[in-house]
Amino acid sequence: MNYFYVPEATARFYGGYITSLQNAVEYILAQIEIISRNCFEKLKRDPIENVKYRIKSPESMAEKLLDHGLEVTAENAVKKVYDAAGVRIITSFLEDVDTVVSEIKKIKGLQIREEKDYINNPKQNGYRSYHIICAADFKSDSVFIELQIRTIAMDTWASVEHRMKYKKSVVGEQLIVNELKRCADQLASIDLSLQNLRKIINGGIQNETIICGGRESDVRSGYGNSSS
Ligand code: GTP
Ligand code: MG
Repeated sequence: MNYFYVPEATARFYGGYITSLQNAVEYILAQIEIISRNCFEKLKRDPIENVKYRIKSPESMAEKLLDHGLEVTAENAVKKVYDAAGVRIITSFLEDVDTVVSEIKKIKGLQIREEKDYINNPKQNGYRSYHIICAADFKSDSVFIELQIRTIAMDTWASVEHRMKYKKSVVGEQLIVNELKRCADQLASIDLSLQNLRKIINGGIQNETIICGGRESDVRSGYGNSSS
């Protein structure tokens, strides 16, 4: 079998569950490949720009379990936490997020447990993404997978924000928070402008109706107003 590589320590930590986690991720990746191909046939372009995936590292899982007041065991990691397995799908345009979400919901063998729409309801810090928690049933075990669907712009912001890990309670903390939020909102505006440009190029929208710079009046319900 051709499992993707997981570090030895990760395999040891998850023990008997590692195969189910790997199977689940590989199954989703294969389904995403099919979604890409089908969309390409219909839309004449692939809405999926990039796919990332991972099994959560033992260190990061242990931290999360302890934060939740749970004992650090493989069983808790797989049954009580939903993101031991994670797949992130990066789309080219904003509207592609909806397309991908609706295709994911059609995947056989996946039960959707929870959806979080941080695009129409961005987090206070500006984080945007569409999250789906699903359960994948395989012969041996049912495991949860967290799917994150977001545009390139949203992914850029989340990656940079995650890497910064700025210290809390330092001088200038509020400035950092405000600036990150401003960047997130500007990127959201750029997402709208790029989507409009694509529509102009495809002739699907008249030039006069386009507002450059993604002003509020141009915004899909809730998306441009990230204060929620
Ligand atoms: P955990 O955060 O996983 O404990 O669970 P939760 O119920 O709070 O889920 P949530 O949907 O808020 O976050 C799940 C995942 O989304 C995280 O593990 C991150 O990968 C991503 N995420 C959520 N919020 C942020 C954020 O503010 N910044 C970044 N960079 N990523 C985020
Ligand atoms: Mg969280």
